[in-house]
Amino acid sequence: MLTLKNITKTYKDKKVFQNAKFEVEPGEIVLLTGKSGIGKSTLLDIISGIKKYDSGTYYYQGIEIFPQNDEKMSAFRNQAIGYILQDFALIEDYTVMENILLPTLYNNKMDKKMAEKKARELASRFDLIGLFGKKVKKLSGGQKQRVAIIRSLILDPQIILADEPTTNLDSENFEFIMEIFKELKESRKIVIIATHDYRIHEIADVVYQVENYKLVKDV
Ligand SMILES: Nc1ncnc2c1ncn2[C@@H]1O[C@H](COP(=O)(O)OP(=O)(O)OP(=O)(O)O)[C@@H](O)[C@H]1O
Ligand SMILES: [Mg+2]
Repeated sequence: MLTLKNITKTYKDKKVFQNAKFEVEPGEIVLLTGKSGIGKSTLLDIISGIKKYDSGTYYYQGIEIFPQNDEKMSAFRNQAIGYILQDFALIEDYTVMENILLPTLYNNKMDKKMAEKKARELASRFDLIGLFGKKVKKLSGGQKQRVAIIRSLILDPQIILADEPTTNLDSENFEFIMEIFKELKESRKIVIIATHDYRIHEIADVVYQVENYKLVKDV
């Protein structure tokens, strides 16, 4: 279980969350919805530890996570979290393979051979194997999105955060990503998706909105 309690987050003079509560169980797909600027990406950044919050507590599997400690947080992020960022955060001058392998460079869970094998398997499932040696800057938006998704899965993380993961996908790739999310759910992962895409509601267990700086379940 992942739990945020009494989280307050302010950017200089802009309040985003105040004493917000958020809970997800393994095997749940949770959506964050609501209009632009409401704090969806901020919440994913807080869960991933990329952004610090002002006050509150963050627990994962009953253990308090210390996002205020950069070193511990980076280790936790690398080990437990796969994050598909809204802007992909790929390295444009690196090849598809180099981008996919990035998380494995900071982790000793997999040796180089195993990592490359897994990368190839995922790339072929995602129909990207032909682009494996191509620089990311030469790819289309939808191809980049799929590279970002593969990179988030390479270390088999327990928590998958996805920020608008379907924006650039055609309907065939959209259906494929829905299958991937369902598989992650079946293997008891935590999946948190920020989205405006109503088509994703079909696979969601819980939908959250932001109201008055709190996260509320949309029923
Ligand atoms: N680094 C920052 N410094 C100051 N304000 C910020 C920063 N990042 C985000 N904000 C503000 O915080 C609010 C929440 O932003 P956030 O990116 O989390 O929204 P969002 O719900 O993801 O929006 P979108 O649907 O457009 O992606 C917005 O008002 C935004 O302007
Ligand atoms: Mg956003």
